[in-house]
Amino acid sequence: MVNMTVQNMEHIISEATQDFGACETIQDLEQAKARYLGKSGLLTEQLKGLGKLSAEERPAAGAAINVVKQGVEEALRQRREAILHAEQARQLESESIDVTMPARNHGKGGLHPVTMTLNRLEQIFHSIGFAVAEGPEIETDFYNFTALNIPEDHPARAMHDTFYIDDKHVLRTHTSPVQVHYMQNALKDESGPPLKIIAPGRVYRVDSDATHSPMFHQVEGLWVDEDISFANLKGVVQDFLQRFFEREDLEVRFRPSFFPFTEPSAEMDMSWNGGWLEIGGCGMVHPEVFRHVGIDSEKYRGFAFGLGVERLTMLRYGVNDLRLFFNNDMRFLQQFG
Ligand code: DAH
Repeated sequence: MVNMTVQNMEHIISEATQDFGACETIQDLEQAKARYLGKSGLLTEQLKGLGKLSAEERPAAGAAINVVKQGVEEALRQRREAILHAEQARQLESESIDVTMPARNHGKGGLHPVTMTLNRLEQIFHSIGFAVAEGPEIETDFYNFTALNIPEDHPARAMHDTFYIDDKHVLRTHTSPVQVHYMQNALKDESGPPLKIIAPGRVYRVDSDATHSPMFHQVEGLWVDEDISFANLKGVVQDFLQRFFEREDLEVRFRPSFFPFTEPSAEMDMSWNGGWLEIGGCGMVHPEVFRHVGIDSEKYRGFAFGLGVERLTMLRYGVNDLRLFFNNDMRFLQQFG
């Protein structure tokens, strides 16, 4: 049974090497390996046959089989390495990146024109001593209406086409409620009056056409002190508009109007291309508003105003349709980069 001549040994090793060499995958190689080293493989059979040999013959035959076994194992190891190497090379090839291809262009972002106006407006008001205040966009009925002297069932409530969240909560229809928050807080932490703020931010109304969007921006102004008058209001607004539009000859005009939270109230117009353009509302803070927040209206007075931020942006850049600001059309937006 055991027949390990030198030629025989070399023959088995070269046969195995050839066998392994024909394998292209690790799976094939495992099967080829079984033919030699498996449970009923060629070498295993040889080893089993050792038992039938005499004690004198056994050591030499055993040693010979071991040499063959090592030779086969070495051939197996080499082929396995070669296959793995080839697989890796194939994988690298298929995942290769062509570094000479043109790069994907991420483009350069820019600020939205309305954001540019907000930044500009905050900067100008800051330079005339106004702090920037913020308030929630979901307001209670009290802050959006009642505290601003717009009682329930008052027709002025119907003037605001309000988005209701529930019976008591609305999406704020204007930035005026920030006045109320700010005055209450100033009294609480004794930081004012005097107080002097602008409150820029989003507001919401059920309204949509070329000049109205259901979401838009306003900037509220409020200055409260012992001796504030309409003259201060006119000075501040005119100074702001002249600097915002970079036109020193820009004039401001007031027309009597009505707002529940100011008395007297006015619409503000500014001179534009030989005519007048309405740009917001204003007035002296109504004593009822002071009463709601707990400021002594015998001692203090103040002015307030509200401007439309999209309106200012449209005039500054010559945009004629307000919806363009919210359509996210790159052709429009890129003009402001
Ligand atoms: N809140 C008003 C509106 O949205 C605008 C306004 C008018 C604000 C007069 C004021 C003001 O502060 O005094 O229609």
